[in-house]
Amino acid sequence: MKGNEIRERYLRFFEERGHLHLPSFPLIPKDDPSLLLIGAGMAPLKPFFTGKVEPPRHRVVTCQKCMRTGDLENVGRTARHHTFFEMLGNFSFGDYFKQDAIQWAWQFLTEELQLDPERLYVTIHPEDKEAYALWHETVGLPDERIYKLEDNFWEIGEGPCGPCSEIFYDQGESFGTGPENAMGSDGDRFLEIWNLVFTQYNRTKDGQYEPLAKKNIDTGAGLERLAAVLQKKRNNFETDLIFPLIERAAALAGTKYNTSAETDVALKVIADHSRAVTALIGDGVLPSNEGRGYVLRRILRRAVRQGKLLGINQPFMAELVDLVIDLLGQGLPDLFEKRAYIKKIAASEEARFQKTLDQGSLLLQEKIDAAKEQQKTSLSGEDVFQLYDTYGFPWELTEEIAAEAGLAIDIDGFKTAMKTQRERARQARAKVSAKVATPDTTRLAGAGKTADETATASEILMLGRDGVEIESASDGESVLIILATNPFHAEGGGQLGDIGELQSATGKVEITDTKKNPDGTIYLLGDVTEGTIERGAEVTLAVDTERRHDMARNHTATHLLQAALRHVLGDHVTQAGSVVMPERLRFDFTHPEPLSSDELKAVEAEVNERILAGIATNIRELPIEEAKALGAIALFGEKYGNIVRVVEVPEVSIELCGGSHVRNTGEIGSFRILSESGIGSGIRRIEAVTGHAAYRLAQQDTNDLAQAAELLKARPQELLEKLEKLLAEKKELAQELSSLHQAQAKDQVGDLVKNAVTQDGLRIASGVVEVADVQELRALGDMLKARNDIQALVLGAQIGEKVNLVAMADATAVARGIHAGNAVKAAAKIAGGGGGGRPDMAQAGGKDPAKLGEAIEAGVAVMLQALA
Ligand code: ALA
Repeated sequence: MKGNEIRERYLRFFEERGHLHLPSFPLIPKDDPSLLLIGAGMAPLKPFFTGKVEPPRHRVVTCQKCMRTGDLENVGRTARHHTFFEMLGNFSFGDYFKQDAIQWAWQFLTEELQLDPERLYVTIHPEDKEAYALWHETVGLPDERIYKLEDNFWEIGEGPCGPCSEIFYDQGESFGTGPENAMGSDGDRFLEIWNLVFTQYNRTKDGQYEPLAKKNIDTGAGLERLAAVLQKKRNNFETDLIFPLIERAAALAGTKYNTSAETDVALKVIADHSRAVTALIGDGVLPSNEGRGYVLRRILRRAVRQGKLLGINQPFMAELVDLVIDLLGQGLPDLFEKRAYIKKIAASEEARFQKTLDQGSLLLQEKIDAAKEQQKTSLSGEDVFQLYDTYGFPWELTEEIAAEAGLAIDIDGFKTAMKTQRERARQARAKVSAKVATPDTTRLAGAGKTADETATASEILMLGRDGVEIESASDGESVLIILATNPFHAEGGGQLGDIGELQSATGKVEITDTKKNPDGTIYLLGDVTEGTIERGAEVTLAVDTERRHDMARNHTATHLLQAALRHVLGDHVTQAGSVVMPERLRFDFTHPEPLSSDELKAVEAEVNERILAGIATNIRELPIEEAKALGAIALFGEKYGNIVRVVEVPEVSIELCGGSHVRNTGEIGSFRILSESGIGSGIRRIEAVTGHAAYRLAQQDTNDLAQAAELLKARPQELLEKLEKLLAEKKELAQELSSLHQAQAKDQVGDLVKNAVTQDGLRIASGVVEVADVQELRALGDMLKARNDIQALVLGAQIGEKVNLVAMADATAVARGIHAGNAVKAAAKIAGGGGGGRPDMAQAGGKDPAKLGEAIEAGVAVMLQALA
């Protein structure tokens, strides 16, 4: 029985039993961030299972295209691993349950497909008594052909899941009789052909299993496996669904299937991967270095590489895609319409890879040889990265080729190198983006200047890079684009250029900036993120309008600010510079002195009044003379054409301006000044926020206040009162502390005087004192020195972990030869420090508090010596 007929019979069998046949859903999941690609028939039906969406009928049957890439290395090496495959499935959403599912499956296999019932085995979950009873009693399957397996629970990402029951077909002893071929083992003899899932739970994002209100059925039968069984083939690749691809690849390589195991693996990989490539491109995936685009790239490149290994020296993907479409088209008729497109994308990615493959393979071989020579067991991360960066070798490909030579690769090292490179690239981009050279635009004869904010589609007139015109650019490359009609606002008048996205049938570009040539040609700068874009392509355009709207708020607010400044400060205020960013605005203006806080408040209040008034703005294009007659402010030094754009906020401001503005001042939301500062003589700068940023600032303020209030254990409204109280308390405490210190100092002075030594009629005070800081230490010294009964002193204190010393001598002592500097120097030396000073007063520091006493003694000794 042919594959196409099996598909048809299955769909019809379940249609006859009340099921609605839905066509296959695309491979790209809709609204399911937990999945990269659809990998099971039930995956696109999750919302029907959970009850989130009402299904068109409670019984559905599909033949769903599926992709599974978890086991890529096994593809071609086993009888039944695929990336792309078709899954037949019948589904019940709260309608029938285990009994019908089991009975119909049995009936379809044994009656419709006429499989020998004696060769069928099943597995069930050990606790599923109901399934056991149905298989054993209702169907009549003997106990020894019902296996209880703990793993029989099926789930995919978030969503519906439950215990399952798998149906196996015994392909016979010719497939092997060893233990690996026992039922339930990994061998090929017993082939799982159908899985019946009794969906009764919903797995939540955080991994909980919630019972579903209504029980469901989800089944999946691999079309290729059924075909292998019915066509009595040893593996899925030999069925009529896939084998023509193997034959074609073999013919292209001038070889035959079944000549060597290695050749067969390569042929199977090519066959499998060309199916996947066709289906992925057909569903809109474009080659790129991320996500699904990367899956596509990797699979396509694996296939091309296997082709090379087989000795296919010309491009072959387009030819295989053609054949895939013939083979799959009956089940997936949309492929017919997309034939030319899919071939084109596949061929261009193949060409791109081919180009780098030859060079890269040589380099890789060198690296492998070098590693082997140095008796290494793996390739370094830098090597792997170089291949990736220069030749576009996915690391997995390098890993495979290295493995063939018996080497591993350092994946962590690769990832580190990749991260470093990204950072470097980002910084480099930031540097060069300021001065990008545009290609010569004379060819365009003035086209490329049309701006139309509402345009959502256009044509690429010119592509460029580094000042040179190019025909196409592929993902990973940066590019300059000139469009026929352009909704992106170019940087100008202080406003940053728009960003967004651009998409053609064959590629996607992230637009990172928009600029204008001196001649008025508008150009976009961007990075191709998927596929390839070409000159002349029709493209759809999406400006980041949220960001632009934020800029529009800031731009109109800038006009309001200028008007308010002139009103509050006077007509001498003129614009000296302006930057309009999405997150804030910066306005420089002439004014001789800082604004007082009252002036700032008045300016802020006036702008906010104009916002609250909800004034409709008026934007027109007028001859310049007319605009001037209206009183439009034109900036000295800026060039304007004959026709100018006038932006008016009626009764408030009228300016010549090419930027983005709100339709009504109310859209600005609110306006808050962040700072006012001087940036040069007679020039002031105001930075301010509006809209979202002003709202976020208000939120931030509220949060800060709440946190401060919490710290002070007060409500936000009581904050000021509480703070005043705290400050008063603090002042009181400080006063108390200071009088305490004074009292303490007096005590210490008393002791020091008492213990002073007398020599030749001079009294020298010395000792370790307790003070809070150096100032106090000096104050204490001064206090002593001021007394008639003390002529010189050496004091020391431990402050924190350190030692501080002070020595003083009055005029009498100095006249008698005492030198405070010498004394303190000697003391500091002992305390592990240094210092010195004048004869009458000197200070020093040291590190060793334990030596403080000794140090002071040494200082005193120096003074005494001077007297001797
Ligand atoms: N969803 C089940 C499977 O893919 C049927 O095996």
